[in-house]
Amino acid sequence: MEREPSENMNAEVIKEGDYVVLYIEAGKKHLVKVTRGREFHTHRGYIKLSDLIGKKYGDYVISNVGSKFYLLKPTPEDYVMKVERVTQIIYPKDIGLIILRSGVGPGSIVVEAGTGSGALTGALAYYVRPHGRVYSYEIRKEFLERARRNLEKLGLINYVVLKHKDITKGIDERYVDAVILDLATPWLVVGHAHEALKGGGAFVSFSPTIDQVIRTVEELRKYPFVDITVSEIFLRNYKVKRGETRPETFMVGHTGYVVFARKVNEF
Ligand SMILES: C[S@@+](CC[C@H](N)C(=O)[O-])C[C@H]1O[C@@H](n2cnc3c(N)ncnc32)[C@H](O)[C@@H]1O
Repeated sequence: MEREPSENMNAEVIKEGDYVVLYIEAGKKHLVKVTRGREFHTHRGYIKLSDLIGKKYGDYVISNVGSKFYLLKPTPEDYVMKVERVTQIIYPKDIGLIILRSGVGPGSIVVEAGTGSGALTGALAYYVRPHGRVYSYEIRKEFLERARRNLEKLGLINYVVLKHKDITKGIDERYVDAVILDLATPWLVVGHAHEALKGGGAFVSFSPTIDQVIRTVEELRKYPFVDITVSEIFLRNYKVKRGETRPETFMVGHTGYVVFARKVNEF
């Protein structure tokens, strides 16, 4: 449903329980949940989180040592980068392409494995809201519990069904919009994914090595899948200052390759 502009303004007033990004300076921002009676300490002093209540996004508060903390509404990237990590996570640059090419959006039914730290799960949950679901499979119980806590913290757990299951043994759901994999042996899931997907549904697999990509693509070719593509995303940030503008010295050199395919009902 469309929101009236006036309703949109109300939504910008910060309430208890909301998540807020405190932007302190370049490279220094924190995701906090507005909670009465709590202080938040940083290298630029502390603030009382209750002081955020009633402020608007875009305002600032002043810390006890006089630093300005700007109040920003969190983006999905803020959520993803702030999960507590117990595994390698999928980075926002790769998640962006995964979301766009898989067509995941409000109402989508998505199967995902492995849950890991829940970074990708959180991003998918954010986009399937309010009526979609993410069914997320994970073999390690301790990771599943950490992911549950991460998703609870982000207020996204209601859009996720966490399953302590080995996805190479089968997928319970049917007519799903997308199957998205980030695990060591994605080729073992290709047949199950074909069964679970609806016609035209998206298969996506993220893998750090080319060997995994080759095995996955070879397996995809045995089933009615079309539009098989393999992509790698590079993201380079820039330092901007007149006369000195150039790429940052350091960048994330490698994350992984993303394999995409679409299910068709027969060859
Ligand atoms: C790299 S992590 C996933 C990270 C996750 N995408 C994120 O962004 O936080 C890979 C996960 O797959 C899980 N895994 C490996 N094989 C699996 C299987 N057959 N079924 C379900 N989960 C599996 C591992 O235990 C591990 O937690």
